[in-house]
Amino acid sequence: MSFRLQPTPPARPNRCQLFGPGSRPAIFEKMAASAADVINLDLEDSVAPSDKDSARTNVIEAISGIDWGNKTLSVRINGLDTPYWYRDVVDLLEQAGDRMDQIMIPKVGNAADIYAVDALVTSIETAKGRTKPITFEVIIESAAGIAHVEDIAAASPRLAAMSLGAADFAASMGMATTGIGGTQVNYYMMHEGQKHWSDPWHWAQAAIVAACRTHGVLPVDGPFGDFSDDDGFRAQALRSATLGMVGKWAIHPKQVALANEVFTPSEDAVTEAREILAAMEEAKAKGEGATVYKGRLVDIASIKQAEVIVRQSEMIAAN
Ligand code: COA
Ligand code: MG
Repeated sequence: MSFRLQPTPPARPNRCQLFGPGSRPAIFEKMAASAADVINLDLEDSVAPSDKDSARTNVIEAISGIDWGNKTLSVRINGLDTPYWYRDVVDLLEQAGDRMDQIMIPKVGNAADIYAVDALVTSIETAKGRTKPITFEVIIESAAGIAHVEDIAAASPRLAAMSLGAADFAASMGMATTGIGGTQVNYYMMHEGQKHWSDPWHWAQAAIVAACRTHGVLPVDGPFGDFSDDDGFRAQALRSATLGMVGKWAIHPKQVALANEVFTPSEDAVTEAREILAAMEEAKAKGEGATVYKGRLVDIASIKQAEVIVRQSEMIAAN
């Protein structure tokens, strides 16, 4: 470990972020009743330009009008390249009640994008005497975003979470894809006459996880567009969890249970982690730094790996 310790991210469950268009208020109650840890009311790309004003009004009313339980309540504002975003921030901060927890900033390209929103939010919070500071989450979904990902992760103490947005990311990178996340049929290698598919999102995900872990931000996997493909969603989510991400978006209610299942450490995983910790306690008592668990080496690094699983499980249970 370097002299500077790795900061801990917010201790909140973030296994599933359920999205819904701000222009479709009929689903807000259903979103509130879902098992998602985070709700993202959208003002951005699921809302047509002609509906931007009415969607904003719907969302402001729903923030105080609906019982959101103990969920993290987030609103996705429009991008900084649009004529809508400043009005989103001003109206939300001035008119939406204290129940709003977070603002999601899409398509961030550099740290200054976050600085700009932070300055506006801070000014309105002070002017209005808002006592609960709004947190931020951002979407990395452009070439600039991934190129500047570490600066972005460090850009504001408000920053709580960062997601990969596969579709806009692919477009910005000029990738030859159309699906939103998941397997890309043309991304394969040949071995002994057989196709073996690889993961085109891997590099961006790992870069996001590294930036997030360096700066105490929660790394999250974004949307999986084919909501008829449960196995595909599960495979993508399992890869994300394996890489260190803590959750995934749901763009349809049926994806919520899938995400919760993958990002809640299983009973077996927690039992094994606890057994490794116990084995290492025993080893330590004997003055040993390494021992054997089920025929394989475990050492002091194994303690830290096991603690990741146990801590995640305890944090979810406590919430
Ligand atoms: N949250 C909660 N409930 C939702 C929902 C959502 N995002 N989307 C649909 N539902 C409800 C429907 O109202 C319906 O309820 P009912 O059984 O009481 O009638 C049920 O879930 C089944 O919906 P279904 O008919 O399968 O879907 P749909 O055609 O109504 O909507 C989408 C499909 C994809 C258009 C819709 O889920 C959606 O808008 N998703 C979010 C898109 C978004 O926010 N994108 C931005 C981030 S990428
Ligand atoms: Mg997007």
